[in-house]
Amino acid sequence: MRPALLLVGATLLLSGCGAGGLVTKGDKDAGKKLFQQKCSGCHALAAAGASGTIGPNLDDSFAEARLEGYKESAIADIVAGQIRYPGQYATGSGLDRLQSNMPPNIVRGHEVDDVAAFVAANAGAQGFAETTAVTSLDGLTIFKAKCGSCHTIAAAGTTGTTGPNLDQLRPSFAAAKKQVTNGGSVMPAFKGVLTNAQIVSVAKYVSSHQRK
Ligand code: HEC
Ligand code: HEC
Repeated sequence: MRPALLLVGATLLLSGCGAGGLVTKGDKDAGKKLFQQKCSGCHALAAAGASGTIGPNLDDSFAEARLEGYKESAIADIVAGQIRYPGQYATGSGLDRLQSNMPPNIVRGHEVDDVAAFVAANAGAQGFAETTAVTSLDGLTIFKAKCGSCHTIAAAGTTGTTGPNLDQLRPSFAAAKKQVTNGGSVMPAFKGVLTNAQIVSVAKYVSSHQRK
Protein backbone atom coordinates (compact mmCIF):
# COMPACT_ATOMS: atom_id res chain seq x y z
CA MET A 1 0.00 0.00 0.00
CA ARG A 2 1.31 3.43 -0.84
CA PRO A 3 1.84 5.66 2.18
CA ALA A 4 0.90 8.82 0.29
CA LEU A 5 -2.60 7.51 -0.28
CA LEU A 6 -2.97 6.44 3.31
CA LEU A 7 -2.33 10.02 4.27
CA VAL A 8 -5.02 11.10 1.88
CA GLY A 9 -7.32 8.64 3.61
CA ALA A 10 -6.45 9.91 7.05
CA THR A 11 -7.20 13.49 6.07
CA LEU A 12 -10.51 12.46 4.62
CA LEU A 13 -11.48 10.54 7.70
CA LEU A 14 -10.84 13.63 9.77
CA SER A 15 -12.46 16.12 7.46
CA GLY A 16 -15.07 14.07 5.65
CA CYS A 17 -17.95 14.29 8.06
CA GLY A 18 -20.94 16.02 6.64
CA ALA A 19 -19.31 17.28 3.44
CA GLY A 20 -22.30 18.04 1.27
CA GLY A 21 -25.16 16.55 3.24
CA LEU A 22 -25.61 13.35 5.18
CA VAL A 23 -26.37 10.03 3.57
CA THR A 24 -29.66 8.93 5.06
CA LYS A 25 -30.75 6.09 2.86
CA GLY A 26 -29.44 4.26 -0.13
CA ASP A 27 -30.19 1.16 -2.15
CA LYS A 28 -27.16 -1.09 -1.69
CA ASP A 29 -28.00 -3.38 -4.59
CA ALA A 30 -28.30 -0.46 -6.98
CA GLY A 31 -25.12 0.91 -5.40
CA LYS A 32 -23.24 -2.28 -6.16
CA LYS A 33 -24.16 -2.11 -9.84
CA LEU A 34 -23.23 1.56 -10.01
CA PHE A 35 -19.93 0.84 -8.30
CA GLN A 36 -19.12 -1.89 -10.80
CA GLN A 37 -19.94 0.43 -13.70
CA LYS A 38 -18.40 3.67 -12.50
CA CYS A 39 -15.81 3.01 -9.82
CA SER A 40 -14.31 -0.44 -10.33
CA GLY A 41 -11.97 0.73 -13.08
CA CYS A 42 -10.00 2.69 -10.51
CA HIS A 43 -10.65 0.99 -7.15
CA ALA A 44 -10.33 -2.45 -5.64
CA LEU A 45 -13.25 -3.53 -3.45
CA ALA A 46 -13.70 -7.22 -2.72
CA ALA A 47 -17.48 -7.09 -2.34
CA ALA A 48 -17.82 -5.69 -5.87
CA GLY A 49 -15.22 -8.04 -7.34
CA ALA A 50 -13.33 -4.87 -8.29
CA SER A 51 -9.57 -4.74 -8.65
CA GLY A 52 -8.71 -1.31 -10.09
CA THR A 53 -5.40 0.15 -8.99
CA ILE A 54 -5.49 3.81 -10.06
CA GLY A 55 -7.14 4.88 -6.79
CA PRO A 56 -6.70 3.41 -3.31
CA ASN A 57 -7.95 -0.07 -2.42
CA LEU A 58 -11.17 0.83 -0.61
CA ASP A 59 -11.05 -2.23 1.64
CA ASP A 60 -7.71 -0.99 2.94
CA SER A 61 -8.95 2.59 3.15
CA PHE A 62 -11.80 1.73 5.48
CA ALA A 63 -10.52 -1.33 7.39
CA GLU A 64 -8.82 0.97 9.85
CA ALA A 65 -11.85 3.23 10.27
CA ARG A 66 -13.91 0.15 11.07
CA LEU A 67 -11.36 -1.10 13.57
CA GLU A 68 -11.51 2.28 15.19
CA GLY A 69 -15.25 1.92 15.54
CA TYR A 70 -16.51 4.31 12.85
CA LYS A 71 -20.20 3.72 12.24
CA GLU A 72 -21.39 2.65 8.81
CA SER A 73 -23.27 5.95 8.48
CA ALA A 74 -20.04 7.89 9.10
CA ILE A 75 -18.24 5.91 6.41
CA ALA A 76 -21.12 6.51 4.00
CA ASP A 77 -20.82 10.25 4.59
CA ILE A 78 -17.09 10.13 3.89
CA VAL A 79 -17.68 8.26 0.62
CA ALA A 80 -20.42 10.70 -0.45
CA GLY A 81 -18.15 13.63 0.39
CA GLN A 82 -15.37 12.11 -1.70
CA ILE A 83 -17.73 11.66 -4.68
CA ARG A 84 -18.85 15.30 -4.49
CA TYR A 85 -15.51 16.87 -3.61
CA PRO A 86 -12.57 14.66 -4.53
CA GLY A 87 -9.19 16.23 -3.87
CA GLN A 88 -7.06 17.40 -6.75
CA TYR A 89 -3.47 16.28 -6.40
CA ALA A 90 -0.31 16.26 -8.44
CA THR A 91 -0.33 13.55 -11.09
CA GLY A 92 2.45 12.06 -13.13
CA SER A 93 4.77 9.09 -13.20
CA GLY A 94 6.77 9.76 -10.00
CA LEU A 95 6.37 7.23 -7.17
CA ASP A 96 4.62 9.78 -4.99
CA ARG A 97 2.27 10.89 -7.75
CA LEU A 98 -1.25 9.70 -8.54
CA GLN A 99 -1.78 8.29 -12.02
CA SER A 100 -4.99 10.27 -12.22
CA ASN A 101 -7.31 12.28 -10.00
CA MET A 102 -10.83 11.18 -9.20
CA PRO A 103 -13.30 13.22 -11.24
CA PRO A 104 -16.10 14.90 -9.23
CA ASN A 105 -19.76 13.87 -9.48
CA ILE A 106 -19.26 10.58 -11.31
CA VAL A 107 -22.70 9.77 -9.93
CA ARG A 108 -25.30 12.32 -8.82
CA GLY A 109 -28.44 12.67 -6.73
CA HIS A 110 -29.79 9.54 -5.06
CA GLU A 111 -27.15 7.48 -6.86
CA VAL A 112 -24.58 9.05 -4.54
CA ASP A 113 -26.48 7.64 -1.57
CA ASP A 114 -26.77 4.22 -3.24
CA VAL A 115 -23.05 3.93 -3.93
CA ALA A 116 -22.12 5.35 -0.52
CA ALA A 117 -24.42 2.91 1.28
CA PHE A 118 -22.99 -0.03 -0.65
CA VAL A 119 -19.36 0.96 -0.05
CA ALA A 120 -20.02 1.70 3.63
CA ALA A 121 -21.68 -1.68 4.15
CA ASN A 122 -18.75 -3.56 2.66
CA ALA A 123 -15.42 -1.72 2.43
CA GLY A 124 -12.90 -3.05 4.92
CA ALA A 125 -15.41 -5.44 6.46
CA GLN A 126 -12.94 -8.25 5.89
CA GLY A 127 -10.20 -6.37 7.70
CA PHE A 128 -6.72 -5.62 6.47
CA ALA A 129 -5.73 -9.20 6.50
CA GLU A 130 -7.52 -10.76 3.57
CA THR A 131 -7.12 -7.89 1.17
CA THR A 132 -3.48 -8.69 0.46
CA ALA A 133 -2.76 -12.36 0.99
CA VAL A 134 0.91 -13.00 1.55
CA THR A 135 2.47 -16.43 1.20
CA SER A 136 6.12 -15.60 1.84
CA LEU A 137 7.96 -16.98 4.86
CA ASP A 138 10.42 -14.08 4.86
CA GLY A 139 9.91 -11.83 7.92
CA LEU A 140 10.79 -8.60 6.13
CA THR A 141 8.40 -9.35 3.24
CA ILE A 142 5.58 -10.20 5.65
CA PHE A 143 6.29 -7.07 7.67
CA LYS A 144 6.10 -4.81 4.62
CA ALA A 145 2.85 -6.41 3.43
CA LYS A 146 0.99 -6.70 6.72
CA CYS A 147 2.48 -4.37 9.30
CA GLY A 148 4.20 -1.43 7.62
CA SER A 149 1.01 0.52 7.02
CA CYS A 150 0.73 0.90 10.80
CA HIS A 151 4.33 0.61 12.03
CA THR A 152 7.60 2.34 11.24
CA ILE A 153 10.80 0.35 10.82
CA ALA A 154 13.32 2.46 8.96
CA ALA A 155 15.27 -0.51 7.60
CA ALA A 156 12.06 -1.91 6.06
CA GLY A 157 11.23 1.48 4.56
CA THR A 158 7.85 1.67 6.32
CA THR A 159 6.43 4.82 7.89
CA GLY A 160 3.10 3.84 9.50
CA THR A 161 2.17 5.75 12.65
CA THR A 162 -1.03 4.06 13.83
CA GLY A 163 0.98 1.70 16.04
CA PRO A 164 4.23 2.28 17.94
CA ASN A 165 7.48 2.89 16.09
CA LEU A 166 9.17 -0.51 16.31
CA ASP A 167 12.67 0.92 15.90
CA GLN A 168 12.08 2.69 19.19
CA LEU A 169 10.09 -0.01 20.94
CA ARG A 170 12.41 -2.92 20.09
CA PRO A 171 10.02 -5.61 21.37
CA SER A 172 11.30 -9.00 22.52
CA PHE A 173 10.58 -11.99 20.29
CA ALA A 174 8.08 -13.35 22.81
CA ALA A 175 6.19 -10.04 23.08
CA ALA A 176 6.10 -9.60 19.32
CA LYS A 177 4.87 -13.15 18.73
CA LYS A 178 2.14 -12.74 21.32
CA GLN A 179 1.05 -9.38 19.91
CA VAL A 180 0.94 -10.62 16.30
CA THR A 181 -0.97 -13.75 17.30
CA ASN A 182 -3.58 -12.08 19.51
CA GLY A 183 -3.58 -8.47 18.34
CA GLY A 184 -4.20 -5.59 20.72
CA SER A 185 -6.95 -3.12 21.41
CA VAL A 186 -6.53 -1.60 17.95
CA MET A 187 -4.16 -3.95 16.18
CA PRO A 188 -5.87 -6.90 14.44
CA ALA A 189 -4.98 -10.47 15.46
CA PHE A 190 -3.06 -12.40 12.82
CA LYS A 191 -3.79 -15.87 14.11
CA GLY A 192 -5.48 -17.72 11.25
CA VAL A 193 -4.47 -14.95 8.82
CA LEU A 194 -0.76 -15.72 8.87
CA THR A 195 0.46 -19.29 9.41
CA ASN A 196 2.36 -20.07 12.62
CA ALA A 197 5.60 -20.18 10.66
CA GLN A 198 4.86 -16.72 9.22
CA ILE A 199 4.04 -15.33 12.68
CA VAL A 200 7.35 -16.67 14.05
CA SER A 201 9.21 -15.25 11.08
CA VAL A 202 7.74 -11.74 11.30
CA ALA A 203 8.13 -11.69 15.10
CA LYS A 204 11.80 -12.62 14.66
CA TYR A 205 12.17 -9.83 12.16
CA VAL A 206 10.68 -7.11 14.35
CA SER A 207 12.59 -8.24 17.44
CA SER A 208 15.97 -8.64 15.78
CA HIS A 209 16.19 -6.34 12.73
CA GLN A 210 19.24 -4.13 12.46
CA ARG A 211 18.55 -0.49 13.12
CA LYS A 212 19.33 1.75 10.17
C1 HEC B 1 -10.49 7.80 -12.68
C2 HEC B 1 -10.27 6.99 -11.51
C3 HEC B 1 -11.30 7.00 -10.39
C4 HEC B 1 -12.66 6.71 -10.46
C5 HEC B 1 -13.47 6.38 -11.69
C6 HEC B 1 -13.14 6.72 -9.09
N1 HEC B 1 -12.11 7.03 -8.24
FE1 HEC B 1 -12.24 7.18 -6.21
N2 HEC B 1 -10.30 7.79 -6.12
C7 HEC B 1 -9.44 7.88 -7.20
C8 HEC B 1 -8.17 8.41 -6.74
C9 HEC B 1 -6.95 8.68 -7.62
C10 HEC B 1 -8.28 8.62 -5.35
C11 HEC B 1 -7.21 9.17 -4.38
C12 HEC B 1 -7.14 10.66 -4.42
C13 HEC B 1 -8.33 11.30 -3.81
O1 HEC B 1 -8.65 11.02 -2.66
O2 HEC B 1 -9.00 12.09 -4.50
C14 HEC B 1 -9.64 8.22 -4.99
C15 HEC B 1 -10.14 8.24 -3.71
C16 HEC B 1 -11.36 7.70 -3.33
C17 HEC B 1 -11.80 7.56 -1.96
C18 HEC B 1 -11.01 7.94 -0.73
C19 HEC B 1 -10.17 6.74 -0.31
C20 HEC B 1 -8.96 7.09 0.53
O3 HEC B 1 -8.29 6.17 1.02
O4 HEC B 1 -8.65 8.28 0.65
C21 HEC B 1 -13.06 7.01 -2.00
C22 HEC B 1 -13.95 6.68 -0.82
C23 HEC B 1 -13.40 6.84 -3.40
N3 HEC B 1 -12.35 7.26 -4.16
C24 HEC B 1 -14.60 6.32 -3.84
C25 HEC B 1 -14.96 6.22 -5.20
C26 HEC B 1 -16.28 5.84 -5.67
C27 HEC B 1 -17.43 5.42 -4.78
C28 HEC B 1 -16.23 5.91 -7.04
C29 HEC B 1 -17.37 5.67 -8.03
C30 HEC B 1 -18.53 6.53 -7.87
C31 HEC B 1 -14.89 6.32 -7.42
N4 HEC B 1 -14.16 6.51 -6.28
C32 HEC B 1 -14.45 6.46 -8.74
C33 HEC B 1 -9.73 7.56 -8.51
C34 HEC B 1 -10.98 7.22 -9.00
C1 HEC C 1 -4.15 -1.57 11.82
C2 HEC C 1 -2.85 -1.18 12.29
C3 HEC C 1 -1.86 -2.25 12.71
C4 HEC C 1 -1.39 -3.32 11.98
C5 HEC C 1 -1.81 -3.74 10.57
C6 HEC C 1 -0.37 -3.94 12.77
N1 HEC C 1 -0.26 -3.30 13.97
FE1 HEC C 1 1.03 -3.76 15.49
N2 HEC C 1 0.16 -2.37 16.68
C7 HEC C 1 -0.82 -1.49 16.28
C8 HEC C 1 -1.22 -0.68 17.42
C9 HEC C 1 -2.28 0.42 17.39
C10 HEC C 1 -0.47 -1.11 18.53
C11 HEC C 1 -0.55 -0.62 19.98
C12 HEC C 1 -1.95 -0.74 20.57
C13 HEC C 1 -2.53 -2.14 20.42
O1 HEC C 1 -1.96 -3.09 20.95
O2 HEC C 1 -3.54 -2.28 19.70
C14 HEC C 1 0.41 -2.17 18.00
C15 HEC C 1 1.37 -2.81 18.77
C16 HEC C 1 2.35 -3.66 18.24
C17 HEC C 1 3.49 -4.17 18.97
C18 HEC C 1 3.86 -3.80 20.39
C19 HEC C 1 3.44 -4.84 21.38
C20 HEC C 1 3.97 -4.48 22.75
O3 HEC C 1 4.64 -5.32 23.31
O4 HEC C 1 3.72 -3.36 23.19
C21 HEC C 1 4.19 -4.98 18.12
C22 HEC C 1 5.45 -5.76 18.42
C23 HEC C 1 3.47 -5.00 16.87
N3 HEC C 1 2.36 -4.19 16.96
C24 HEC C 1 3.85 -5.70 15.75
C25 HEC C 1 3.10 -5.81 14.58
C26 HEC C 1 3.40 -6.71 13.49
C27 HEC C 1 4.62 -7.61 13.42
C28 HEC C 1 2.40 -6.55 12.57
C29 HEC C 1 2.20 -7.31 11.28
C30 HEC C 1 2.08 -8.75 11.38
C31 HEC C 1 1.50 -5.52 13.07
N4 HEC C 1 1.95 -5.11 14.27
C32 HEC C 1 0.37 -5.04 12.37
C33 HEC C 1 -1.36 -1.37 15.03
C34 HEC C 1 -1.15 -2.27 13.98
